[in-house]
Amino acid sequence: MPERVVRPEEPDPEERGIEARLRPARLAEFIGQPRLRERLCIAVEAARGRGEPLDHVLLHGPPGLGKTTLAHILAGEMNAPIQVTSGPALERAGDLAAILTNLPPGGVLFIDEIHRLTAEVVERLYAAMEDFAIDLVLGKGPAAKSLRLDLPPFTLVGATTRTGVLTGPLRDRFGIVERLEYYDVSELRAIAIRAARVLGVVLESDGAGEIARRGRGTARVANRLLRRLRDFAQVRGEGRIDAALAIRGCAVLDVDELGLDRSDRRILSLLAEHYGGGPVGLSTLSAASSEEPETIEDVIEPYLLQIGFLQRTPRGRVLTARAYAHLGLIPPPGTPGDGAPPGGEDPNDISPRGGRRPRGPYPGEGEVGPRAVPLL
Ligand SMILES: Nc1ncnc2c1ncn2[C@@H]1O[C@H](COP(=O)(O)OP(=O)(O)OP(=O)(O)O)[C@@H](O)[C@H]1O
Ligand SMILES: [Mg+2]
Repeated sequence: MPERVVRPEEPDPEERGIEARLRPARLAEFIGQPRLRERLCIAVEAARGRGEPLDHVLLHGPPGLGKTTLAHILAGEMNAPIQVTSGPALERAGDLAAILTNLPPGGVLFIDEIHRLTAEVVERLYAAMEDFAIDLVLGKGPAAKSLRLDLPPFTLVGATTRTGVLTGPLRDRFGIVERLEYYDVSELRAIAIRAARVLGVVLESDGAGEIARRGRGTARVANRLLRRLRDFAQVRGEGRIDAALAIRGCAVLDVDELGLDRSDRRILSLLAEHYGGGPVGLSTLSAASSEEPETIEDVIEPYLLQIGFLQRTPRGRVLTARAYAHLGLIPPPGTPGDGAPPGGEDPNDISPRGGRRPRGPYPGEGEVGPRAVPLL
C-alpha cells in the first residue's frame, strides 16, 4: 500500500525524530486548544506555588493532536525530569515498580497508550497513584510475601486515543482529564507556519492556508504535508510553498481539497456504490476494503465522522448527503443530511459531533465563536 501522507497515526522512527524537533517546549508556544491550555497553565502554576508535583493528568483524543507533546511540555513547565514508557512496554508489575522506584522526587512518568496496560499493572498503578506506594510480591506460592515500598511523589501523565476502554477506577484516579480536539483551519495554519520556521522552509501565507485545509484538523498531518510539499517545492518548484504549488503538490500526493486520500475515498465509494450508503458493519467494510478494522476505526473513520461524511448508527456506518456530494453522486432518498432524520448516536463516538446531523461548512471554515469549533 502506498504511504498515506494524511494518515494521522504513529510516525515511523525517522519521522519521530523530526516530530521531536517540531515539538513546542512551552505551554505558551502550544498552538490552539485554548481552554485546555489555560486549565493546564493554572494547574501548573498552582502546583509550583505549593511546591508540589502536578496532579496526575490523563490526555485523550485522536492521534497526532499533541498528547505526547503536552506530556513533555508539562514536565518542562514543572521543571521535572520525565520518564517515558508505554502500556505495551510495561508487561509486568515489576516493570512498573522498577521505573517508579527510580523516578526522582517530583518526576513525571509518561505512559503512552495507557489503555493497553495489563490488569496486573493497572492494579499496582492504583496504589502508586493514590498512596505513592507500590506493593511488591516476593517469592511464589504460599511462601510469597508482600512488601510495600514507599515512592517519592510523582506525576503520572497518561495518554490514550481510546478513553472508552479505560476502566472507570483508573480514569477516576487522574485529577486532570483533558480531551484534545481537532484543530480548526486557522490553528493548523499557525502550526504549519511555526513548523516551517523551525525547518527553514519558505511557506507563503496562502500556501499555509492550503496545507491547513487539507490537514484533517491534525497537527501531525499538517506538519507532514508541509514536509512533503517542501520536497515538491525543491524538485518541481522554486523552493517556495505558495497556494499554487501546494495545490499541485497535493494533487500529486493524491490528497484532495479536504485532505482525503485514496483510502478514504475508497471507503466512501464502497459505501455509496456497493451498499447503497449503508448501514454497513465494520467487519463487512473491512473485508470489502481490505483495511484492518482497527485502521478503519482509529485512523480513517474519525475524520470522516468529524466532517460529517459518515455517521455511526447501532446498525453500522451510514454515508451522509455531504459525502455523496463530495463523490459527485446523487444521494438516495432518506440519506442523512438530505432532509431525513439523522441516524442514531454512538456513545463511544470520539468525534465531537459524530452521529449528529452535519450542518455548515467543513472544519475550521465559517468560524463559529472563539474556538471556531467546527460545525458544532
Ligand atoms: N498545538 C500544537 N502546536 C504545534 N505543534 C503541535 C501541536 N500539537 C502537536 N504538534 C505537533 O504535531 C506532531 C504530533 O504531535 P504528538 O506526537 O504530540 O501527537 P499525539 O497526540 O501524541 O499523537 P499519538 O496519539 O499518535 O501519540 C508533533 O510533531 C508536534 O510537534
Ligand atoms: Mg503520542
